[in-house]
Amino acid sequence: MDGIGSNEGYRALTVTRCSPHIGAEIGNIDLTRPLSELELAELKRAFTENLVLFFRDQKIGHDDHVRLAEYFGPVGSHVGKKTHSGHSDDPRVRRFHFDENSFDGISGNAWHTDQSCAPVPPLGSILYMHTIPPNGGGDTIFVSMYAAYEALSDRMKTYLEGLTALHDGVLIFGDGTPRAEHPVVIRHPESGRKSLYVNGSAVRWLNGLPKGEGIGIARFLIEHCRSPEFFYRFRWEPHSIAFWDNRCCHHYAINDYYPAVRSGFRVQIEGHVPPAAP
Ligand code: SIN
Repeated sequence: MDGIGSNEGYRALTVTRCSPHIGAEIGNIDLTRPLSELELAELKRAFTENLVLFFRDQKIGHDDHVRLAEYFGPVGSHVGKKTHSGHSDDPRVRRFHFDENSFDGISGNAWHTDQSCAPVPPLGSILYMHTIPPNGGGDTIFVSMYAAYEALSDRMKTYLEGLTALHDGVLIFGDGTPRAEHPVVIRHPESGRKSLYVNGSAVRWLNGLPKGEGIGIARFLIEHCRSPEFFYRFRWEPHSIAFWDNRCCHHYAINDYYPAVRSGFRVQIEGHVPPAAP
């Protein structure tokens, strides 16, 4: 594969778990150069096991950012029509810049998984922040959809089998954005684990049920997916990176730093149609 470095002088990565259910910080890695086969194998295992990976002190450029993404799949593009994030000078990379002009909001300031309204939602997203608010703020919360699924009763798990939900992108990104139906419970293609796939920003009911019941169960699941028991709150530093798996986690960007500057770039990785479980 392009962008693979030599194994010579290889030092094992460190993988430090952040919470019982989600997140690990990766050390002994330099993302400004190609990874070796051994490093990549460890990184892929850590991603599957931990759902979100964090990196510190990585002064990456767009090519480094894209190289990391392409180890996991082709780079994708945002399907939303109206977004708070914008274009950068590189079509592969989106700019996430917020400052005193961002009084109308910031990207990701609601519980969600990225663009589940697309028929083929992104596998993952890699956010690099070079500038963060000087007095703190702008943390991102990540929550495990495996943990959310596993905490349901066996009765509820059985009830949800075979159900689908409409993910309506128009609710988030305006007219012209796609809508797509996906299974409520999906099986992660790499871990084999079951994950709840109900994006609170895009789903209003579950299909194939009486209206009140479909709305009520969707509301219950969305609320359940926000439980602090399943989440980890990440504090950014300048030149931190968060790389999350959209198939098994939700996230929420906290908008508590206005009018300070929080600025960086994001690349998203193309995924596959979410496979129903079992
Ligand atoms: C996003 O939802 O992709 C943005 C996350 C963040 O800015 O922390």
